[in-house]
Amino acid sequence: MSVLVTGGLGYIGSHTCVELMNSGVDVVVLDNLYNCKKSSYDRIKALVGKDFKFYECDIRDREGMSKVFENEDIDSVIHFAGLKAVGESVQKPLEYFDNNVNGTLVLLDVMRQYGCKKIVFSSSATVYGMNNVSPLKEDMEVGGVTNPYGRTKYMIECILKDLYTSDNSWSICLLRYFNPIGAHKSGTMGEDPNGIPNNLMPFITQVAIGKREKLNVFGNDYATKDGTGIRDYIHVVDLALGHVKAVEKVRGEEGLFIYNLGTGVGYSVLDVVKAFEKASGVTIPYEICPRRAGDIAICYSDPHKALTELNWKAERGLEEMCEDSWRWQSQNPDGYPD
Ligand code: NAD
Ligand code: WQD
Repeated sequence: MSVLVTGGLGYIGSHTCVELMNSGVDVVVLDNLYNCKKSSYDRIKALVGKDFKFYECDIRDREGMSKVFENEDIDSVIHFAGLKAVGESVQKPLEYFDNNVNGTLVLLDVMRQYGCKKIVFSSSATVYGMNNVSPLKEDMEVGGVTNPYGRTKYMIECILKDLYTSDNSWSICLLRYFNPIGAHKSGTMGEDPNGIPNNLMPFITQVAIGKREKLNVFGNDYATKDGTGIRDYIHVVDLALGHVKAVEKVRGEEGLFIYNLGTGVGYSVLDVVKAFEKASGVTIPYEICPRRAGDIAICYSDPHKALTELNWKAERGLEEMCEDSWRWQSQNPDGYPD
């Protein structure tokens, strides 16, 4: 029995594949290579020391998806595949709804056709929207989302909830990630953004390596200790281990489960800059700029439900996140090879 990992060559997917295989779970990986390099496959393979199946396929390709289920013994799916750039989603809403929402509908329909009813879905803290106050808890109302990307996550959560209501023999786990950063300890796997990074940590590491002149800090007039935004940064390997637990859950029990994957601790932008400087020994020049549209002041999780029900908690602190991000960036200044 294998777990199908859609988007499995991307940032979070690749780290999850390593932790799954290290814990004895067989995986089949699928990706359309839209936002990753094929060499990510070789890096995963080198780390786990064994071969595994990879399909270059788009989740919207019904025929291609059916072939995967036809050929492989798949009992559950971890669904990472999706587009994730908030700003781009505002420019290209149709592409985002097609890829993320339509893609998920095709995946679910093919799963149903092959009797596979266990899925772990990559949701996001963004579904909590603008109106909830941190620490964010799973039973808070979701949906006050401000951009098309976030709306695709919210819509997919709604679809999965409706699917479970229609057929209780599904086992569905919605994982709401906070801010994943960091990289594999080996320095051989990490985040490899295309173009100008949207997110804080890859921007910082690109300043540190000399690809960008300075960091733009988006606002220092929020109601926080130093005026900059506060987020719940989580090490990508902790996040990956959360998926190992979530797969155990859906394999063991029918139901609809929702968990935050975060640390429960919030750090400001300037905290992250300082921690990164300490970990790397490199000074990060920065400039205070206007707020970024759509940002909120404070966002961090209440992570207790995942501890109680999955026996999972994040173990790696900010220092380790910074050290590992820096090791990846400094050993791979241009990311994964072509
Ligand atoms: P990523 O872009 O590195 O990985 C996504 C992978 O999916 C890529 O390898 C891409 O090529 C693939 N993909 C995209 N569309 C596809 C399609 N139609 N068919 C097949 N493959 C497709 O992103 P990531 O950071 O690893 O994120 C993984 C998931 O987690 C995404 O769904 C994302 O929305 C979600 N998420 C990410 C974050 C974050 O900050 N990184 C936070 C919350 C949620
Ligand atoms: C973190 C903090 C910025 C860049 C996004 C998505 C969210 C989820 C995770 C997918 C904020 C500040 C950033 C920069 C800065 N993704 N910042 N200068 O916005 O919390 O979340 O990624 O689901 O949906 O919205 O993460 O890393 O972009 O920003 O000052 O160049 O860093 O204002 O306070 P965010 P981020």
